Amino acid sequence: MIKDPFDFDQPISRENTNSAKWNYLLESVGVEDVLPMWVADMDFETVPEVKKALMERVQHGIYGYTARSQGYYEAIIDWNQKRNGWRVEKKWITHSTGVVNALYTTIRALTKPGDGVLVQPPVYHPFYRAISKNDCQAVLNPLKVVNNRYVPDLDDFEAKLKGGNVRLFILCNPHNPVGRVFTREELTAMGELCLQHDVIIVSDEIHSDLVYKPYRHIPFTTLSKELAQKTIVCTAPSKTFNLAGLSTSNIIIPNDDLRGQYDMACEQVAMKGLNIFGAVACEAAYRHGEVWLDQLMDYLDVNREYAVNFIQTKLPRLKVYNPEGTYFLWLDCSSLGLNNGQLEKFMLHKAKLWFNQGHIFGVEGNGFVRINIGCQRSTVEEALNRLEQAVRTIT
Ligand SMILES: Cc1ncc(COP(=O)(O)O)c(C=O)c1O
Repeated sequence: MIKDPFDFDQPISRENTNSAKWNYLLESVGVEDVLPMWVADMDFETVPEVKKALMERVQHGIYGYTARSQGYYEAIIDWNQKRNGWRVEKKWITHSTGVVNALYTTIRALTKPGDGVLVQPPVYHPFYRAISKNDCQAVLNPLKVVNNRYVPDLDDFEAKLKGGNVRLFILCNPHNPVGRVFTREELTAMGELCLQHDVIIVSDEIHSDLVYKPYRHIPFTTLSKELAQKTIVCTAPSKTFNLAGLSTSNIIIPNDDLRGQYDMACEQVAMKGLNIFGAVACEAAYRHGEVWLDQLMDYLDVNREYAVNFIQTKLPRLKVYNPEGTYFLWLDCSSLGLNNGQLEKFMLHKAKLWFNQGHIFGVEGNGFVRINIGCQRSTVEEALNRLEQAVRTIT
């Protein structure tokens, strides 16, 4: 049965919803009349079946401690099989309230103070905090730009692993903020080096459902049996279906020992509860969300195409990296000649736009911004018009 298209164009007010993205502008950035296109949540209603399942659960009126049902596990297993051809076993699935939380837990479980954790800047900024707060050292393997595309620097990757103290590699795939969906060859090359140097891979695949055609997400554990035994995969329905407020993610660890160590680290801080609504929403989303997601990706793809064309034709001073996945645009504004502080002021006060500042992702992001296009097309249009007018004032 072909369903009517979902109406992603319909604006939905987020007033008075305690939205971190929309409702605390003055407190957060000191101005009120900016268009918020920063943190990774979308301005779309989730899958109708998710809303319905949540309403039914709310209606029951008793919200006691919640266990993971067989249906919950099956929904995750079926989704990964269907979308990515990844055969996940039930016992591999463990839990976290969020992927960032899982990163902290993994580092705590598998490192000792002073160990190195390799990351690929410019990269999702909480990675750095997860490393430093657990007394480890970030070992930087910056992505390099080849033919207008960010790629792993494999020579440097190998040199950093040879350095000796790297215990973990936190991979971000699809990569936030640069939007790359790494190829099998790239992943295999990094994986082989990790095997050679006995490095565990923590593969943050939270954006793995948000991939544009013709790109394909390759779950890291599907590369080889050896790599599956060395990898912790962080997944969640939160980015895909706009459920971040429900604090539910699924951490998939095929290796019994690694999973045991991860679970022990959770136990040490009594972290084992499952949010009752997160459980309901996760199951319903993976069971019923496919048609919605495919239409969402078509919509985001048009947003992406529109924005990239707009920037290339009307804002040629800026350089945009066309994402292969995620709903972010990574925009190089360095030709405007502003330092990071000035760029932030320019965007907030002149353009009236709240984007993430690129420098938070590492020094490689100096002079960049990250734009969230997971919103109505009218918002993208308004933002780019504001940006164009503001850039015109800089001679
Ligand atoms: C790469 C990446 N990992 C993790 C997260 C956050 O995950 P959670 O809200 O489950 O902690 C985000 C959110 O933007 C992200 O981009």
